[in-house]
Parts: sequence; structure tokens; C-alpha cells
Amino acid sequence: MNLILFGPPGAGKGTQAELLQKRYALAKLSTGDMLRSAPAALAGLVKGYMQKGELVPDDVIIAIIKARIDEKDCAKGFILDGFPRTKAQAEALEGMLHAEGKHLDYVIELAVDDKKLVERITGRFSCAKCGAGYHDIFKQPRKLGICDECAATEFTRREDDKVETVAKRLEVYHRQTAPILDYYRAQAGQGALAYIHVNGMLPIEEVTGVIDAALQAEKKIAENG
Ligand code: AP5
Repeated sequence: MNLILFGPPGAGKGTQAELLQKRYALAKLSTGDMLRSAPAALAGLVKGYMQKGELVPDDVIIAIIKARIDEKDCAKGFILDGFPRTKAQAEALEGMLHAEGKHLDYVIELAVDDKKLVERITGRFSCAKCGAGYHDIFKQPRKLGICDECAATEFTRREDDKVETVAKRLEVYHRQTAPILDYYRAQAGQGALAYIHVNGMLPIEEVTGVIDAALQAEKKIAENG
């Protein structure tokens, strides 16, 4: 099963990707995380774009995804979180999958109002050791100050989660990324692709429940691989 988690910054793509990865034993391909942990030469190239809330150039991110999809752990299926973000990326993905005899099974859109997104992003923090994601209000660690996943006690906040950068990221999403939803809506139902619209304003567990129910209904999946 290959799927895209689609939505604006802060919609919950990373949160749901983590949960779905565990439940369905899929590879998680989060382009933001890949860029943040890139080797120094690449990190230097992309840092300026990310700090300003702009997209990194298509050719850079397409090359990264192309190499990643070829890795062994993607053979059983993958979750794309943060890719594609432009029509050129969507077309490149289609070409890559086609060349390998693969296809997309689901595009899952997480829909959330802009005002709520700002609240979510500015309250977000993550474990400095394992990267598990949390929120000041909506998702605290079970024991305050201790990561649920690895028991580390250090946490970090992203540089691009400042209010002014978030506004730019949202503007870029609406201008460059949201329009490709039409590309996927047009394809849905014609072949293997199913388009699932989810109310991302719901609490985290409810969003997961809605996604699970939709995936189970489509019956293309085998839980835990
Ligand atoms: P990236 O890291 O992908 O950031 P993003 O898309 O802006 O998404 P976020 O990670 O901010 O949000 P999310 O939807 O994952 O939400 P999360 O689950 O964390 O990209 C960063 C930058 O990298 C880009 O600006 C660009 O420069 C570059 N880049 C990346 N991919 C690229 C590409 N393909 N092309 C070009 N450039 C690219 O949730 C947010 C918070 O809300 C969390 O604290 C969470 O706990 C909480 N939360 C989640 N769901 C809920 C809920 N249902 N209710 C309440 N709280 C919730």
C-alpha cells in the first residue's frame, strides 16, 4: 500500500504518519525530516529556503525521493508526508512509480482551518533524541518532560515554527501545493487511486480512527504488513 498524507503545515501529517507507520508497517517518507537531517552539503543548500518558509527546488527534493523509494524498506509500501508539494513533484512521482510497476493507492487529505494551524504549529515540540512529536496543549508526553518513546528528557522546537514563518508557509501551501489536490481528485476512481477527505480539526485519535476506517473499507491493506 502506497499513500500520500496531504495537507497544510500543521495539519497533522507527521502525527498521523507516525501512527500509520506503526500500525501498517509501512516506510515513512517525511521530506521535511529528510531535509532537516540532510548531510552538510545538502543542508547548506536547502536551509535558506526552509528558514524563509519557501519550498526547496523541485529537482532537489525529487532526487531525494527517487533514491528513497528505491530502498528496500519501501518495497512493502510507504507513506509520503510532505511530498508532493508542486505539480512537477506530483508528475515526477507518477513517473517514478510507473517505471517500477507501482502505483498510489490513497491520497488522504487532512483539512484544517488556517487559524487552527497557527495554534498547532507554534505549540509543537519534539524529542531531541528520537524525534517523537508533541504539543503544548494537544499532545503532552504521558509523563511531563519525559519522551513516551525513548524516555529522553531533551526537547526541541523547529526554527521555521515562528509565527511569521508559519504565515509564509501557509501562503506557499495555498499558492503552490493545494492546487495539486485537483490533479489527484481528477485521477481518483479512474484506476487504483482512492481519494479520502478527512476533517483534520478532530482530535488526533479521532482523525486516526477516520483514516483507519476509510482504509479498512477500501480493503487494500493488511494490518501490520
Ligand atoms: P515539513 O517538515 O514537511 O513541514 P510542513 O508540511 O509545513 O508540515 P508540518 O511538519 O509543519 O506539519 P504536519 O502536517 O506534519 O503536522 P504535525 O503532525 O507536526 O516541511 C518543512 C519545510 O521543508 C518546508 O517549508 C519546505 O521548505 C521544505 N520541504 C519539505 N518538503 C518539501 C517538498 N516536497 N518540496 C519542497 N520543499 C519541501 O502536527 C502539528 C502539531 O499539531 C503537533 O504538535 C501535533 O501534536 C499537533 N496535532 C496534530 N494533529 C492534531 C489534531 N488532530 N488535533 C490537535 N493537535 C494536533
